[in-house]
Amino acid sequence: MSQGRALITGGAGFLGSHLCDALLGEGWSVVVVDNLLTGRRANITHLTHDPRFEFVEKNICQPFDVGKVDYVFHFASPASPEDYHAHGIETLQVGSLGTFHALETAHKYGAKYLVSSTSECYGDPLEHPQKETYWGHVNPVGPRSVYDEAKRFTEAVTVAYRRYHNVDVRIARIFNTYGPRMQIRDGRVVPNFMRQALSGEELTIYGDGSQTRSFCYVSDEIDGFLRLAKSDEHMPVNIGNPTEFSILECAKLVLKVTGSKSQIRYVPLPQDDPRQRQPDITKARQLLGWEPRIDLEKGLRLSLDFFKQAVAEESTPK
Ligand SMILES: NC(=O)c1ccc[n+]([C@@H]2O[C@H](COP(=O)([O-])OP(=O)(O)OC[C@H]3O[C@@H](n4cnc5c(N)ncnc54)[C@H](O)[C@@H]3O)[C@@H](O)[C@H]2O)c1
Repeated sequence: MSQGRALITGGAGFLGSHLCDALLGEGWSVVVVDNLLTGRRANITHLTHDPRFEFVEKNICQPFDVGKVDYVFHFASPASPEDYHAHGIETLQVGSLGTFHALETAHKYGAKYLVSSTSECYGDPLEHPQKETYWGHVNPVGPRSVYDEAKRFTEAVTVAYRRYHNVDVRIARIFNTYGPRMQIRDGRVVPNFMRQALSGEELTIYGDGSQTRSFCYVSDEIDGFLRLAKSDEHMPVNIGNPTEFSILECAKLVLKVTGSKSQIRYVPLPQDDPRQRQPDITKARQLLGWEPRIDLEKGLRLSLDFFKQAVAEESTPK
C-alpha cells in the first residue's frame, strides 16, 4: 500500500487513535474527523506536534470535505453498550448518514475505504463460532438494535457503493477488543473489571458468568486492519481473537493480574445479551496471514498501567 493521506473518522476514539499511531508509523499523513461524542482529545494529544497529523472537530453526519485523501478509514460510531444506549439516535445517524458521507469522500477522491463493522451483526448467534457467511440472529426492535442494525446498514451501504460506484471497499467485522485508551466507564467487560478490581470494588458479573466472549488485544486488532487495508477483499472479514473465555474466567484473570482482593457479585443478565461470541478467523488467516499473538493475560498486563492511571485520575478531585 503506497503511503499518502488517510482520513480516519472517529480517530479520537479508542481504536481510531491506535490506528492513527500505526498509519503515521507507516509513513502516512492522517486527518481525523471526530466530534468527540465518545472519543477524547487526550487520545490524540501526543500526535498534535506532528505536522503530518490534522484534527477536525466535526460531526460526520453533516456533509464534510477535508480535501483529497487516498484512504478512508470509517471508524466513527459509539461502540460500547453504555455509549450506544445513551446515544441511540446518534448511533443510527452515524451508521447511516455518517457512512454515506464517508463513502462519498472515498468515491469523490477515488480513495480506498475500510469500515469498522462489528460482531454485533451476528446478534445472539445460532451458529458457533461465527463465520462471515452467517447472516446473524438480530432483534430489530430490541435495546441493542440501535447499534446492531446501524452496523448492518453500514455494511449494506458499503457493499452498495462497491456495486453501484465501484468504490474499493473493505469491511472489518471487529470482535471485542481491549487495551489502553478505553473509557473506564463504558460498560465493556475488561474496563469494568479492571476499574472495579483496581478500586477495590466488587466485580459485577451479569448472569452466572458462564456466557463466553473472546477478547482481542488492540495491537493485534490494528495489525489485522492494516493487513485487510492492503488486501483486495471486498466482503466482510472477521478480525478478533478466537480464544473463548467465560466472563467468570475473565474476572478471575483480572483479579490475578491486578493482585486485587475484590469479591465477585452476580447481577441479572440484561435483555438480548449474547450467550456466546467467538469469531471463526479462517478467512483472515488464509487471506491476510493474520493471527492474534497476545493472549488475554498478557494483554491485561500490557493494559495495567493505563487502567491504574485512569482510575487514579478519576479519583483525583478536580
Ligand atoms: N472496541 C471494540 O471492541 C469494537 C468492537 C466492534 C466494533 N467496533 C467499532 O470500531 C469503531 C471504533 O470503536 P471504539 O471502540 O474505538 O469506540 P470509541 O467510542 O472509542 O470511538 C468512536 C469514535 O467515533 C467518534 N464519533 C462518534 N460519532 C461521531 C460522529 N457523528 N461524527 C464524528 N465522530 C463521531 C467518537 O467521538 C469516538 O471518538 C466503531 O465503529 C465501533 O463500532 C469496536
